[in-house]
Amino acid sequence: MRVTLFAIFLQPFVGLGAIFGPICQWHQDPSTTMSVHWIERLEETPQKWTSETGPFRSEPQEPVLLRRPLQIPKTVSKGATLVIESPKNTTITVDIDGQRIETIPGRKKAVSLLNNSQKPNKPILLAVSLLKTSKTASKTIPAPRVFIQDQEEIIVLSDAKSLWNRSLTSTPNSDWNRIPPVPGILQIDRDFIFAYRKIGHPQWKEARISKRLFGPTDDWVHSVQLSKLNADSSYEFQILDHGVQVGQNLFKTAPLIFPNKMVFVTGGDMFHTRQMLDSMNRRAGTENPLFALLGGDLAYANGSDGDRWLEWVESWNKCATTPYGYSIPMIPVIGNHEVKGASYRPNDAPTNEAAPFFYSLFFGMEKGSMFTVDFGDYLSVIALDSGHTQNIKSQTPWLRETLHTRRSLPFKFACYHRPAWGTGVKGDSLEIQKEWCPLFEEYHVDAAFENDHHIYKRTYPLKGGKRDDSEGVVYLGDGAWGTRTRGLSREVLKTRPFLAHAESRNHLIKVSLKKGTIRYEAITTSGERFDVFDRTSGEEAQR
Ligand SMILES: [Fe+2]
Repeated sequence: MRVTLFAIFLQPFVGLGAIFGPICQWHQDPSTTMSVHWIERLEETPQKWTSETGPFRSEPQEPVLLRRPLQIPKTVSKGATLVIESPKNTTITVDIDGQRIETIPGRKKAVSLLNNSQKPNKPILLAVSLLKTSKTASKTIPAPRVFIQDQEEIIVLSDAKSLWNRSLTSTPNSDWNRIPPVPGILQIDRDFIFAYRKIGHPQWKEARISKRLFGPTDDWVHSVQLSKLNADSSYEFQILDHGVQVGQNLFKTAPLIFPNKMVFVTGGDMFHTRQMLDSMNRRAGTENPLFALLGGDLAYANGSDGDRWLEWVESWNKCATTPYGYSIPMIPVIGNHEVKGASYRPNDAPTNEAAPFFYSLFFGMEKGSMFTVDFGDYLSVIALDSGHTQNIKSQTPWLRETLHTRRSLPFKFACYHRPAWGTGVKGDSLEIQKEWCPLFEEYHVDAAFENDHHIYKRTYPLKGGKRDDSEGVVYLGDGAWGTRTRGLSREVLKTRPFLAHAESRNHLIKVSLKKGTIRYEAITTSGERFDVFDRTSGEEAQR
């Protein structure tokens, strides 16, 4: 039996798979750039499929389900015909890129178009279902033969010896005819489009999209790196998947010159349960910050559970939205639960490969997870790796240089995961006390944001571990965004006299900058401010 296919199959098909995100990230100049990431999951798993050549063993009443990509040669003329030649005594059903094809059994010639709506070099996905029509037929079915008839020329695309992907069951899920079963063997170009424009501008611009595999999974991270944006401006963007909108959002760029007031939020240890994560993400959005500084233990995936990252991305996308509908750009910092084995190894940290999701999702980590984001000439946010993929001591020279070149900035904050001055629920990081804290003091860092302990704490301004209200550095934390909190000793403020406040409560820390002053507020999901602290900023104090 010979089946001839018509041009209908060349129409574009709708978007497939699941999209998580998008989320916005800052790692370069926040006044002129924005990174946007989203993760694409193909919905089938490779385990349901095998690669076989015909003939295929077949059971009565059960169809044999086959798929393979077809590359149509560019040279094929407009009137050419694609022909699927099925075996004897079989019923054949054909889909191309998810579209059921009108077939004409037995017809040898047809006016058909293999034309121009097909993108050059883009394979199409041919899915074939073969069902024996006779119970007395053989227990196997030969592979179909696939060729193009172009005038007098026959171009064979697949013959009896060609490799197909075959479903291991006769009832695969509803996307069996649309999604490639084995990424790498049958990979179809998904053709995302990212369009953006400044609010009020009529013209959309298109941004170049890059993609890479998300850690060890078959999921793809897609990203754009927007640049040359206008400072202190609002933008909107859309993500299209084969013409179908799969993402849209608004974002703001940072001012180049310090405004009267600026707000950001910070915290870490975000995701024990989805409900806890969503609640605090919503609180972050409600506080209407310019950005969020996220201090590690983001998805609690331990370098192995990619599904937790998909949920984390989805939650941020859905919940961390300002009252005006803007996405909150994040500045992500690494924690121990980003790493296989939940590593805290301050002196023998593993390499970046131990944190495959963190490093494949975010930009700006080419030299490891220590980096700086500078806002104009008024604010610097410094991220450090507290012994998860980099040794603590190895970052000290970089930190000294970084702080030295920014010594005149009025606002400077550091953020890392493991506390130097904690509440005792775990040991303090003596390495950070020795290596980094003296530099924070020397260069008048306004505050260091610490995480990891699932508790709230605020220290007095500290110098050399002792209270020094004029010269000291404040340490705030300790990571209870969306985790179950730990218990505290009632005597903790006495046994640890450097602590000004300690409580076992979920919170985020809202930081409000005004010229000369900084307000720190510890805020619950319901909006309760349970610790508020005002301090003169480093510049005004002329420390
Ligand atoms: Fe942690």
